[in-house]
Amino acid sequence: MQGYSQAAENNKAPIADIMGKHLPADAFVLEIGSGAGQHALHMSNTFPGIIWLPSEREAVVPILRANLALYGSNNIQPPLVLDLTDFNWSGDSVDVVYAANVMHIVSEPLGERLVRLAVEALKPSGLLMLYGPYKYNGQFTSESNASFDQWLKDRDPASGIRDFEALMSTAKCAGLTLTRDYAMPANNQMLIFERA
Ligand SMILES: C[S@@+](CC[C@H](N)C(=O)[O-])C[C@H]1O[C@@H](n2cnc3c(N)ncnc32)[C@H](O)[C@@H]1O
Repeated sequence: MQGYSQAAENNKAPIADIMGKHLPADAFVLEIGSGAGQHALHMSNTFPGIIWLPSEREAVVPILRANLALYGSNNIQPPLVLDLTDFNWSGDSVDVVYAANVMHIVSEPLGERLVRLAVEALKPSGLLMLYGPYKYNGQFTSESNASFDQWLKDRDPASGIRDFEALMSTAKCAGLTLTRDYAMPANNQMLIFERA
């Protein structure tokens, strides 16, 4: 597999456990920032009744496409070129928008864009599921997250672990309500929002 991520391999089963509690059996799911496609492959196998639409920036789509061609199942749609810097939703409405480990990679404005784009794409009562690390009241949830944040910022000053409270404010303005905040392994969270 091109672009294989050990982290994605480790977290895919715990994420599927939580996703399964909320996912409609026949859900149409848009994934933003699919990377190599490991979550797309795992979730589409775990939940055979769903349709999974993966997406990535143009530069990464060839890797994603190659992996899906080799290992994909027929409930994964061909990947969409979706760059948060310039994208508006014009497809069919989706039941779920999912993004794992994207909010701390993209800049804060692009993270806000992801939230607004999710609202554009979601059906009423649709769900936004965000997986990754967050800060609460300005505090990291672990020393390792503090080190990870520094590592991210050394690499790209626009990156960094986001404030849960700022995300809540963005989500509320966009028309989303937080329904669950699950603590996940390795100091991550799975946040579930519902569109009004
Ligand atoms: C840490 S990786 C996470 C990949 C995968 N979701 C996972 O959990 O393994 C972050 C992903 O965000 C994507 N990304 C970065 N900037 C983006 C943008 N402007 N629009 C859409 N995706 C972006 C990257 O290409 C990368 O695949």
